[in-house]
Formats: sequence, structure tokens, C-alpha cells
Amino acid sequence: MTRMDLQILKFFLIFSYLHSTKGIQSGDIVLQNDARFIASIRLRSLEQQTIGIGFLCTASLINDRHAITAATCVTNFFASQLQIILGVENISSRNSRAVIRDIQRMHFHPNFNRTSESSELNGNVAVLQLSISIRQSPSRWSILQYSSIMNFHVQPIKISDFILNSSSICQFFSWSNDPTSCKRIPDLLGTSLAIVKSDECLNSDSIFCAHRLNDLNPILCGNLGGAFLCGNTLYGIATRNVCNEIGHFVLLPYYKQWILAVSKSNILTTQNAYGIVLISIAILLL
Ligand SMILES: *[C@@H]1O[C@H](CO)[C@@H](O)[C@H](O)[C@H]1NC(C)=O
Ligand SMILES: *[C@@H]1O[C@H](CO)[C@@H](O)[C@H](O)[C@H]1NC(C)=O
Ligand SMILES: *[C@@H]1O[C@H](CO)[C@@H](O)[C@H](O)[C@H]1NC(C)=O
Repeated sequence: MTRMDLQILKFFLIFSYLHSTKGIQSGDIVLQNDARFIASIRLRSLEQQTIGIGFLCTASLINDRHAITAATCVTNFFASQLQIILGVENISSRNSRAVIRDIQRMHFHPNFNRTSESSELNGNVAVLQLSISIRQSPSRWSILQYSSIMNFHVQPIKISDFILNSSSICQFFSWSNDPTSCKRIPDLLGTSLAIVKSDECLNSDSIFCAHRLNDLNPILCGNLGGAFLCGNTLYGIATRNVCNEIGHFVLLPYYKQWILAVSKSNILTTQNAYGIVLISIAILLL
């Protein structure tokens, strides 16, 4: 079979699988391999009781040491109360692919005002610094401390540079609630959405709106922090936890410079520190 045939076969298999499983209104089931950057934020104290019940919201990995999510998801907690989990598509499961990290520090955008009524719509973006890189072993005794192929199934996503026209069609990935029962669905879901200009959408430079392509079913039921991807780059994050036909998203190209600035400096210093430790050991051994 040619490469093309294999692609067609793959899509056919995925299609048949999705049709054989029970339909979920708010989207199709997505496997972790198809959204390798996707992460979830958990409240540690609840997670310790039952895996999955500490789920707070969806996040996206933007480099080996940082993730972004909605500021409103994490603003009421200390970093030490939270955990981030990558590498699994089922929020109630902790198999060997799960990559779990503590959160060391949270950066909130300067425009974000947690006490303001419009906090969801202004600077609702937080950059979370992981305690250690996803490429570094959390075990003190591991011989392999750092490897570029460690947790290769988890990969960061780039943030979009350009603002798109309305009616552009993009992909949305998130954990969410069933729109009728309001119960949390354990699977990661994905759906195609179209960017829309509408009266319901605020006239804001930093927010955009989107809806589903073929119907007006709600897209946002407990989808806070969900990832809006256009052409394989991260274009937006879901900014409200409501259940509406029109979803509001933080426009990430608008915040890109700030995001890169707060997520860059720390990486360099850790790598430098690591290098200095290695050189010191080398000198001692000589
Ligand atoms: C998710 O994981 C839990 C715990 O392992 C399991 O009971 C449940 O069936 C899984 N759900 C799906 C949809 O695979
Ligand atoms: C944040 O919002 C509150 C309530 O609207 C307001 O009183 C306060 O001045 C705002 N803070 C800043 C720094 O803008
Ligand atoms: C957006 O629309 C303008 C005018 O309608 C067009 O010139 C431009 O090429 C479009 N941009 C993209 C990225 O489609």
C-alpha cells in the first residue's frame, strides 16, 4: 500500500470507530496522539482522594517547561495546590503515559483583574511554570536526568502569529461537560469551529468568537482553558465556562509577546544552572 492508502485507511478506521461508539453531542473523542500538547490542571487535594475529581480546566503546553490556560481557572489557588497532567486523554486514568508535574510559579497577564466583573474578557491568560521540564526525570535517583526524547508522546504547540479573518475554520480541543446532564465527560473531545463576527461577541481586540459548523448546539460547557487550533498553531483559549452556541476565546496572537517573554527567561536560567552543575562536577572529577 502507498502512504496515501495508509492515510485513507487510518481515516476510515477512525471514522468507523467514532461511528461505532456512542455519539457525544459536544464533539468527537480525540486520542492523546492527535493533541500531544493538551494538558489538564488538577486540584491536588481532591486528586489524592479520587483520580479525576480534582480536574479544574484544560491547558496547553507551549514549551518543555510552560503551559498556558485561562487566568480565571487558577486565580483562586496557590501554585502549590495545583498539579498539571499531560500525556493522557482520559481524565480519570493514570496509566504509564501520564506525565505529572507540580506547578512552581504562575504568571498572570497585567491586564487581568480577578475582582473585576469582566475578568473573563480582559487579559484572561496565565502562564504556568512547571516544577521541572517534561524532558527531565522527576526521580532524584534516575540516572537519565534529562533527555530530549523523554515523554516524546507529549509535545509543545506554537502560538499563532497572525489574526485570521472571520469564517476561518479551526479545531477546538477540550475536556467538557455533557450539555444535558452537566456531568463531566472523561474523554478529551474535539470539534471543528468557525470564527464568527457577531453582536453577541464583544467588540474587543483581544477576544474572538466561534461557533459550530453545521448546527447551533452549544460548544462551551465547562470548556474553560480549551485549546483553539488554527493550522496547527494555538490561536485561542476558551475564556468562559458557560454553555452557549457562541464561544468566547482569548485571542493569543494579541498576547504572544508577553507569553513568550514570561516563558522564555526561566528556561534559559534552568538550562544554565544545569550546565554549571555539570561543569562543576567535571572539574571536581579531574
Ligand atoms: C477512563 O478511565 C477510568 C479509570 O481507569 C475508566 O474506568 C473509564 O472507563 C475510562 N473511560 C474511558 C471512556 O475510557
Ligand atoms: C479591578 O476591578 C475592581 C472592580 O471592578 C476595581 O475596583 C479595581 O480598581 C480594579 N483594579 C485595577 C488594578 O484596575
Ligand atoms: C482576509 O480578508 C481580506 C479581505 O477580505 C483578504 O485580503 C485577506 O487575504 C484575508 N486573509 C486571510 C488570511 O485569509
